[in-house]
Amino acid sequence: MSAVLFVCLGNICRSPTAEGVFRAILEREGLKQTIHVDSAGTGAWHRGEPPDSRAQAAASTRGYDLSDIRSRQVVDADFVSFDYILAMDTANLEELRALCPDNVDCRLSLLLDFDPGATTDEVPDPFYGGDDGFETVLNLIEGACEGLLARLRVPH
Ligand code: 4NP
Repeated sequence: MSAVLFVCLGNICRSPTAEGVFRAILEREGLKQTIHVDSAGTGAWHRGEPPDSRAQAAASTRGYDLSDIRSRQVVDADFVSFDYILAMDTANLEELRALCPDNVDCRLSLLLDFDPGATTDEVPDPFYGGDDGFETVLNLIEGACEGLLARLRVPH
């Protein structure tokens, strides 16, 4: 079984959205039992909280249910447990590099590296912006998650 962890700053907007989108893709493809999916934040400010209501509303409009997700912070064990740790932006990626234990071969990437058609590297933080930010987040994440699925299907 492969395991994928999506990571952003607060784990209430972008990474839970990615978790919900990728779960739906895996369900569609009959791969729910084959690929483990989770999300976490580099920060702990929102620990235990459900996703931001704006993220939930935008996701729900496209058929994704984020309501059972609760925010948690990245922990050392994640760097061992997950085959893919996918950061939403370069600040998240740098934070993950700093958190990765010395003796672990951490498999860190930007999520958008998995979308060959992406015109940007980063999923922008929507927290302080308007509702259109959450649509941008969904558009970017949907594209990258299909690319991620294609990569996971390649034997390695
Ligand atoms: P996220 O968005 O990293 O996509 O979950 C944010 C959520 C909360 C904060 C910043 C970004 N915050 O500063 O509390």
